[in-house]
Formats: sequence, C-alpha cells, structure tokens
Amino acid sequence: MTLIDGKATAAAIKQEIAAEVQQMLAEGKRAPHLAAVLVGHDGGSETYVAAKVKACAECGFTSSLIRFESDVTEEELLAKVDELNKNPEIDGFIVQLPLPKHIDSQKIIEAIDYRKDVDGFHPVNVGRLSIGLPCFVSATPMGIMDLLERYNVPTKGKHCVVLGRSNIVGKPVATLMMQKTYPGNATVTVCHSASENLKEICASADILIAAIGQPEFVTADMVKEGATVIDVGTTRVPDATKKSGFKLKGDVKFDEVAPKCAFITPVPGGVGPMTICSLMKNTLKAGKGVNW
Ligand code: GUN
Repeated sequence: MTLIDGKATAAAIKQEIAAEVQQMLAEGKRAPHLAAVLVGHDGGSETYVAAKVKACAECGFTSSLIRFESDVTEEELLAKVDELNKNPEIDGFIVQLPLPKHIDSQKIIEAIDYRKDVDGFHPVNVGRLSIGLPCFVSATPMGIMDLLERYNVPTKGKHCVVLGRSNIVGKPVATLMMQKTYPGNATVTVCHSASENLKEICASADILIAAIGQPEFVTADMVKEGATVIDVGTTRVPDATKKSGFKLKGDVKFDEVAPKCAFITPVPGGVGPMTICSLMKNTLKAGKGVNW
C-alpha cells in the first residue's frame, strides 16, 4: 500500500510555481495577482482565505484581500466583481463561499469574467471542461488529478467509481476521469444517494473517489483488493484534544480500507492540501494568459 502524500505533493507544486514566477520576473513580467473577496467573518472562510493569501506569498504572487461586512448588498458585491473584471492588474479572483443568505451566490459567480474565474465555478468554465476546451478547472478535482498523475496511478481503461454528484467535486472529477488524457481515459460510474447496489458498484472500482461528505461511509467490504482510494471527505467532528476543538474525518474508514489498497489518500494530508495548490496553478495560468 502506498500512502499518497498530498501535503508533500502540494509543497513540491508550490515550489515549481515559485520557480516559474521567478522566471517571469527575470523576463521583466510582473507576478500573477490573485484577489480574494471575503464577506463576513465566518471562521471556516477566514481560515481558508488566510491560507490562500499565505499560499500566494509562498508562490511569489501578489494577493489582495477585499473584505465586506455580512450586510453588504448584492449590488455592492456585483459592483466589486465588475471592478475586478475590468482591472488589468488583477489576473484572477475568487469570491469566497458561502455568501450570506440575502445574496444570490449563483448570480455573483455568473457575473465573474470567466477568464478571471480561477475557482472554475462559472458555467462557461464548467461547459468548456465538459467538451475538453481550455478552461479553469475547479480546485478539488484538479488536485485529485495531480495526485493520480504524480503517483503514476494507472487510469486508462480502469473502472473509476465516483461517490457523490456535487457540482464542485463529483461531476467535474467524473468528467476529467473520462477524458481521453492521462490521468483519465477511465470507464466512469457516478453513484449517489439514489443508487441501487451502491456497495457492489464500489467494490468493482479500480479507482474509488469518495466525495459524499459522510464520515467513514466507505468500509472494507466496499473496496476491491488493489484499488486506489481517493478520500475527498472533510467533515469536522468535535475533538476536545484539538486546539481547534474539532478534527477532520474522511469519507473512508481508513484503518480497515488502507490494507486492501494499492494507493490511498489520508485525511488530513491527502486531497485537502492540494486544493489551494490548484488555485495557485490556476492563478499562474491566468497570469501567463490562457489561450481561450
Ligand atoms: N468555499 C469553500 N471552498 C471554496 C472554494 O474552493 N472557492 C470558493 N470561492 N469558496 C469556497
């Protein structure tokens, strides 16, 4: 069994990005610039955005954090998105989700110029991904593909089962795994809450991508001997021994599943660290200019 080390892989990719930024500067270009819009003071969002700003510094990017209080109006937010769309100094930007209930998140996402949408959430990017055109791919699916590639996990012709059909993980990762590239070129099955014979389908997977958000859902009887298991789950469960008061639990019962696997990602330290790294990859791409 090989443990896939997302933390080390993310650190290596960030170093590669930093080297590319140095090269850009040496050529007289400016560093890529990411802006993050943060509304309110939600603890999780504060942590994520702080981590994104820190990762920008590690990569040599410029970053801007734009804050609004949670009573910001949709019009004010749309005006900021418009301003960022037009600002030539900003290569890419994100609006951290979730947004307060009085704001229509989809409206905000659709207002972002898809060429600056480094989250890959805009319908144009989602559509381009589905037909294999250059686009920004959202962070978690891209992080999964990078891990499969860096660990040389065979995917061509393999049966990949995706557990979960969310717009930000299940659907895009299924799309990527079926594309005629490496990693990819797999036979893909997407399972969800209404799937019959879910256990049997999972047990037939060469690659199982668990993204259903139910802690320890995947048990040993659902995993084929020699399978690769990618655990996308990050459910917070209370843990009084932790300073934060919680620990992260994956969708996979790691202790009993790991011995059966060829490759497996741990939680934490697997897919999680790769997601911010993917945002950095998209920002570099935006800074260099995508060939739309
Ligand atoms: N909230 C949780 N994850 C994400 C993400 O990847 N992007 C944005 N914009 N908000 C998030």
